Amino acid sequence: IKNIAVLTSGGDAPGMNAGIRAVVRTGIYNNLNVFGVRRGYDGLVKGEIVPMDAKSVANIIQRGGTILKTARSEEFKSYEGRKQAYENIKKLGIDALIVIGGDGTFTGASKFIEEFDVPILGMPGTIDNDLAGTDFTIGYDTAINTVVDAVDKIRDTAESHDRVFVIEVMGRDSGLIALRSGISTGAEAVLIPELNVDYDAIMKRLDKSRKNKSSRIIIVAEGDKEGGEVVADKIKENFPHYDVRLSILGHIQRGGRPSCMDRVLASRLGVASVEGLLEGRRGEMAGLICGQVQFTPFNKAIKHIDKINENLTRIVEILSL
Ligand code: F6P
Repeated sequence: IKNIAVLTSGGDAPGMNAGIRAVVRTGIYNNLNVFGVRRGYDGLVKGEIVPMDAKSVANIIQRGGTILKTARSEEFKSYEGRKQAYENIKKLGIDALIVIGGDGTFTGASKFIEEFDVPILGMPGTIDNDLAGTDFTIGYDTAINTVVDAVDKIRDTAESHDRVFVIEVMGRDSGLIALRSGISTGAEAVLIPELNVDYDAIMKRLDKSRKNKSSRIIIVAEGDKEGGEVVADKIKENFPHYDVRLSILGHIQRGGRPSCMDRVLASRLGVASVEGLLEGRRGEMAGLICGQVQFTPFNKAIKHIDKINENLTRIVEILSL
């Protein structure tokens, strides 16, 4: 392997820049030529591929978003699109790719490897933490801290007005943002797509906790079957005398300076990915499990359900008295 390329794909996540920097610099350290692909797989199809040097990644480790930009590519979903992408990388003599993203990114990478035999390794970059094969994904730590900051502020006003707040957080298919931010903000209930909601139990909990607290907070993951608005309406129906408000945090959760944990995670996985490629690894995602770098095949990495830890959901209930 002499020439490698790096891209970011899917939703951006804080720490992606630290990951790009690590890949570029580890490549150069190993005497490789490194290219950057703009706008994810879209840029691969359209040939938006630029050479990167050590300077091109200077002063980015602390920046949110991704300097390479990102997209969810429709064209790469077709065989013709992937064929065009393959021709573009062959033209530049690119031997291998490192893709930073989530489940969609790795699904695309698997197809590309299958059809064109391109060596690809992945790095987990998504605020949702919905990938197996790594305890945490790049961006998750920053995002949950953003949520905690926002919910703490909402708690101040909720407490002052004796209100119930339903707060919807991101997580299209995953409740991991909701779960950890819920525990750390003392939420009275957390609703996530992976588990069925027992509304009776939640209503009872809200009623019971009233004697101990003047404000109550229910965190709802965006991917929950009902969503924040419906949950807020149900609470209003059950308790017409409660003062209920809904707050949807939205894309604020995806931005901001990456936390120290995300910068270190992205740096470690960037180094590991380049070294992994040089060792002959392909079709796998580099992750960190219990402090150790491990590689997981793409088809296993995209299934995150085991990460929903019953202990975390139990903690919410126990501590919501
Ligand atoms: O993939 C991360 C994520 O933040 C999801 O939690 C959310 O559903 C989605 O991206 C929203 O992305 P967009 O608004 O960019 O389509």
